[in-house]
Amino acid sequence: MEIEKKVTQLKKIREEASAGGGPKYIEAQHAKGKLTAKERLDILFDAGTFEEIDPFVTHRCTDFGMAERKFLGDSVVTGYGWINNRPAFASSQDFTVFGGSLSEVASQKICKVMDLAAQNGVPFVAILDSGGARIQEGADSLAGYGEIFTRNTLYSGSIPQISVIVGPTAGGAVYSPAITDFVFMVKGLGQSYITGPEVVKAVTGEEVSLEELGGAIVNATKSGNCHFVYETERQCFKQVRKLLSFLPQNHKEKPPTVDTNDDSNRVNEEFLDIVPVNSIQPYDMKKVITNTVDDNDFMEVQEKFARNFIVGFAHLSGQSVGILAQQPMYMAGVLDIDASDKAARFVRFCDCFNIPIVTFVDVPGYMPGTDQEFRGIIRHGAKLLFAYAEATVPKISIIIRKAYGGAYIAMSSKSLRGDINYAWPTAEIAVMGPEGAINVIYRNEIKKSKQPEETKQMLIQEYRNKFANPYVAAARGYIDDVIDPRETRTKITKALQILRSKDSCNPPKKHGNIPL
Ligand code: HXC
Repeated sequence: MEIEKKVTQLKKIREEASAGGGPKYIEAQHAKGKLTAKERLDILFDAGTFEEIDPFVTHRCTDFGMAERKFLGDSVVTGYGWINNRPAFASSQDFTVFGGSLSEVASQKICKVMDLAAQNGVPFVAILDSGGARIQEGADSLAGYGEIFTRNTLYSGSIPQISVIVGPTAGGAVYSPAITDFVFMVKGLGQSYITGPEVVKAVTGEEVSLEELGGAIVNATKSGNCHFVYETERQCFKQVRKLLSFLPQNHKEKPPTVDTNDDSNRVNEEFLDIVPVNSIQPYDMKKVITNTVDDNDFMEVQEKFARNFIVGFAHLSGQSVGILAQQPMYMAGVLDIDASDKAARFVRFCDCFNIPIVTFVDVPGYMPGTDQEFRGIIRHGAKLLFAYAEATVPKISIIIRKAYGGAYIAMSSKSLRGDINYAWPTAEIAVMGPEGAINVIYRNEIKKSKQPEETKQMLIQEYRNKFANPYVAAARGYIDDVIDPRETRTKITKALQILRSKDSCNPPKKHGNIPL
């Protein structure tokens, strides 16, 4: 009988713990169009699988009248569950308790599940909705952030880490999501900025709204801090689940394979008409990607940032792949600072988690001009070379059209340890485009000529015949084969199959020193 009383008491305490900051604050949360911490976890995990850890933890602060204001579980809900039938750990900040602010114990709760996730080799998802450091706790709270940043860093590349920003994330607190692999935000709810509009005005005189400064759209389009933006929380968590379906649980595993009815020998007749005859005319590279992959299903990452470069996940014959490509529709697909950063980080993510990389190439070169040079296109462009060169996962590339100069070498070329390098017959592989090349090597001849324009056009044609094709590179083995565009899907799928047993590792070292 005694035990029954105790179980009844446990039930009562548990009910109190699941009430967060209480009905008034839950109502306020809903009135803002936001879900509560627990509702979010219920959507993220497979129905009914979430198990909470530490629901009875309370803060230990006694200053500022805090001793009288304690809430079971404090300002974060933590635990584990199953996503697509695979385990994962998560934390979800509870805005109904002191605005989700991070106390010392909230940090300890988060660190506990991060440690468990890493030790068990399963992904970690952090849901952020917080006023930042618990002001009443001072340095204890700040140190709590440090503990989280340290774990984000140590577990980077070991287990996938995902951040979902569905409320304020301000000041130094933004650096936890920034270290994780992918950041999701919901329009109108998620905000992420270092200093708010008042501080900006006081320091720089600039007037800017919160949304313009740190809303989901600016973080997805301008700063590149955010990888995925959605209209609603429900859509957002659905897509977190989808992203995880492409990934292995940890760095020791291969990504899961999925069943598909899409024939790996499917032929793409439309690829014959995709590349315009005029080589300066754009076309939509996304059509090449979506028509190649299983069921035309391509999950694009950072869709709205550096749109001259496309990165994302797909399946080919059921196998997860990371896809990279130029987008000729934006800035002719040129490689600039943002594109290099975006692409390099994606290559490194795929390499961390054993995801083969498929690269479609149509690159006219690096972006010229003082703006790019002064801001460090050399340093940023070097990241992409570094990332591809050090990656040991299977690397397959298909040159669709232009592959010029250093940018060609950067794009998964044979000399950066590309495994299988294909080209369409429309490929042009050279040090630079015909016009630029002729102006350099025949400058004097053109000047001296009685008909400079005709001479120039003749020389351009000569150069084009020599280099604006894939056969010179193929004759030297830089290209493994020139393929019929219609057979692109079959060729990549076969290459992926043969490279499944690839076993390559880099020279021993503490870690490389990628140009940051
Ligand atoms: C303690 C906090 C808090 C905080 C909010 N609250 N932020 N309590 N520490 N950081 C409390 C409020 O006092 C209030 O309590 C309740 O949470 C809800 O907050 P509201 O202000 O009523 O909500 P709202 O109007 O929606 O505004 C949300 C907000 C605002 C924009 C986040 O609360 C705010 O500006 N908070 C301060 C943000 C901030 O400057 N944080 C420090 C950032 S620097 P009551 O009891 O009244 O209901 C930082 C450093 C990290 O975090 C460094 C890492 C190394």
